[in-house]
Amino acid sequence: MTIHIGAAPGDIAETVLMPGDPYRAKWAAETFLQDAKLVNEVRGMLGYTGTWNGQRVTIQGSGMGMPSLSIYANELIRDFGAKTLIRIGSCGGMQDKVKVRDVILAMTASTVNSPSSGIFRELNFAPCADWGLLQAAATAAAKRGSATHIGGIYSSDVFYDERPDLNEQMVRHGILGVEMEAAELYTLAARHGCRALAVLTVSDHLGTGEALPSDQRERSFGDMVEIALEAAFS
Ligand code: HPA
Repeated sequence: MTIHIGAAPGDIAETVLMPGDPYRAKWAAETFLQDAKLVNEVRGMLGYTGTWNGQRVTIQGSGMGMPSLSIYANELIRDFGAKTLIRIGSCGGMQDKVKVRDVILAMTASTVNSPSSGIFRELNFAPCADWGLLQAAATAAAKRGSATHIGGIYSSDVFYDERPDLNEQMVRHGILGVEMEAAELYTLAARHGCRALAVLTVSDHLGTGEALPSDQRERSFGDMVEIALEAAFS
């Protein structure tokens, strides 16, 4: 048991999927895992452990933004021995070729700032995904026929952004989408010798203003969970 995770020692699997939304953790665990058991409900940040194809998996909500994710990922890694952490979440599309419902596999995650920035001082550390996980996720996505983009994303600290100029630079430099957690997950995984990846569904588009209707979110989210699970165990 840690400050933010009420699980007993041994209740957390070495492989952890991390959606931002705790209710998505519940839905994914009930939909994709066998024998899913609630292992955390501190602050309502639900976590479940069960099995997928006989392999133990935990699905733990991270909350929104890098400070929240940092708390859960630190405790999962340092106190519960998590080794593979895959963010499953939504992002805003930034390129014309990126459409709502598409999947993005985040090879790198640029930031203005993250909870780890203080460690690096003047250095701009380049947070990147684990290559093996990325390759396995690309194969899993291709097998499913999911429209998939692989490349850099932007992990922002703000959803209601007041810096259109910054978004313009991101678009200009080929950034595929914007979300709020991956860069810190990649940095923590690097620090602790773990594997990390972010598998994202495009829920809205910053250029066109299109947004995925809520009744279609679940289906796209399901594709992403299966890609993450296949990548973790291939
Ligand atoms: N900005 C930040 N995070 C997001 C967005 C966005 O537009 N869409 C989904 N997650």
